[in-house]
Amino acid sequence: MFEELLEPWDGEEAVIRFDTRTRTWTFVLVHSTHLGPAAGGTRMKVYARPDEALADGLRLSAAMTRKLAVAGLPLGGGKAVLAVRHLPEGAERRRVLLRYADVITSLDGRYHTGPDMNTGEEDMDVLAERCPYVYCRSPGNGGSGSTAPATAVGVLHGIRASLDWVHGSPELAGRSVLVQGVGAVGAPLAHLLAEAGADVAVSDVAVERATAFAAEIGARVVAPDEVVGTACDVYAPCAVGAVLSSATIPRLRCVIVAGAANNQLATDDDAERLQAAGIWYAPDFVINAGGAISATGLELLGEQATQVDERLARIGDILTEVYRSAARGGTTTEAAAVALADARLDGSSDSR
Ligand code: PHE
Repeated sequence: MFEELLEPWDGEEAVIRFDTRTRTWTFVLVHSTHLGPAAGGTRMKVYARPDEALADGLRLSAAMTRKLAVAGLPLGGGKAVLAVRHLPEGAERRRVLLRYADVITSLDGRYHTGPDMNTGEEDMDVLAERCPYVYCRSPGNGGSGSTAPATAVGVLHGIRASLDWVHGSPELAGRSVLVQGVGAVGAPLAHLLAEAGADVAVSDVAVERATAFAAEIGARVVAPDEVVGTACDVYAPCAVGAVLSSATIPRLRCVIVAGAANNQLATDDDAERLQAAGIWYAPDFVINAGGAISATGLELLGEQATQVDERLARIGDILTEVYRSAARGGTTTEAAAVALADARLDGSSDSR
């Protein structure tokens, strides 16, 4: 039920649309405009029920508020979910996107969007036909293009910082990293890790894709149902969320969890489960901020590529700060990262 999800939500506004022709539910979740316009990607996905899509969007929008606050960007957090019957193509996709663009426009700049799961720069080009609040149009169309490479670079910095925290050295050579999901972010991340000399293993629900990709970079392949029990130094979830749960955490055989997926914790309690298991968890909204940092740096703040690179490297420093404060306070890394976000949110009560 929508009301049971929305009434306890701590966000600002939710816009819900249903297009009877394409049977698409559109949810735009403006979680916070405290630090600036609410920014967050547009996720297109098939859900069993619309309330699952809304629940996903609500959680993701709150994570964006924290992500952008921790990254020091002048933006609030939001997210949009297009819950489709099937992933549309051609004219149907255009219709879904243009109708959604009108919803964003109606919010007068309170929500800014970019790509997310199953949407890309061509989709941003279509949205931009009707709406000015769109990041990551294709480079040929004046945008900064895909956020995936920058997200991967940010995660790499986070993995190095995590290794440094645990082992006293950020060196990847000789360290084993298991990348779950070789999609837009997982694949370039695995590439970078292999280049840096790590012992890389990859896994994907599309097994042939994982096998072909592994051959390309000289990685091992792990079957999807063996990811959780596989021993490695770093487990990098780069696919779906909720992979860290009461069912998986007791079976993890890694020291560090550091990957790109959003919403990795199934429930709030899972942060404590990881801590009790002696696993250092890089909070997802800290380590996966690279895409947002790059897109908004280039398009909103007018930064040069070198400045964006510096900000991506800072993800490692922020993560180290999170680990240090968790260790000092005896809290989970998640709690330490949330405190960091809250400090920025509380500290700027008169920023707008
Ligand atoms: N969707 C991505 C994320 O969740 C990246 C993104 C965010 C892109 C905001 C543009 C604007 O971080």
